[in-house]
Amino acid sequence: MNDHSSRTSEDLSGPMKIRKMTLADLAQVVAIDQVSFSLPWPERSFHFELTENEASRCWVVESEGRVVAMLVGWFVIDDIHIATFATHPDFRRQGIGEKLLSHVLRTARGEGALTSFLEVREGNLAAQEMYRKFGYVVSGRREHYYNDNGEAAILMTLGSLADFDASIETKLPSETP
Ligand SMILES: CC(C)(COP(=O)(O)OP(=O)(O)OC[C@H]1O[C@@H](n2cnc3c(N)ncnc32)[C@H](O)[C@@H]1OP(=O)(O)O)[C@@H](O)C(=O)NCCC(=O)NCCS
Repeated sequence: MNDHSSRTSEDLSGPMKIRKMTLADLAQVVAIDQVSFSLPWPERSFHFELTENEASRCWVVESEGRVVAMLVGWFVIDDIHIATFATHPDFRRQGIGEKLLSHVLRTARGEGALTSFLEVREGNLAAQEMYRKFGYVVSGRREHYYNDNGEAAILMTLGSLADFDASIETKLPSETP
């Protein structure tokens, strides 16, 4: 993860909206991805997810017309796999990631998902901490998973979407269309 600690965080003053990602969001989504990951996805990957991959569930959080977070999930059989997920560095630690993940898990559960699975870099303790709050547990490890630095991937599984932390659910934003 990149270090943006020297940058000034922005506060969310207006209402926050969680909605499906559209092609019009692509530039902002790609920009968030590029400042968030050392191996960002090319734009064509997000395009594919939005236009061709029927398993994809693509979401953004919008505040005052600006995309501040994004998540792509893959719905496979009864599992929602978190494929990529980031909050813009200027908007982190304001609960946005948690609200977005909650929304995605709850929506996937409504579609019939029973479990959730993801890979996270071994050194990405912030993300691991967030996933732990939701009840994800470490379920495996893949050595030398990431091409840029050979870092291992930690596999995390949320075994039962029915049980994801009730205290987190109480903080959910109201539904948006
Ligand atoms: C991981 C990420 C999506 C979290 O987004 P966010 O909007 O900042 O998350 P939230 O503010 O909702 O934080 C939720 C919880 O995550 C944990 N967390 C988030 N950032 C953290 C940090 N820097 N250090 C420790 N814990 C952290 C905390 O438990 C936090 O809850 P708290 O603020 O009540 O302590 C964001 O840091 C990010 O985009 N990182 C880069 C991309 C990435 O790593 N994505 C995940 C790939 S698997």
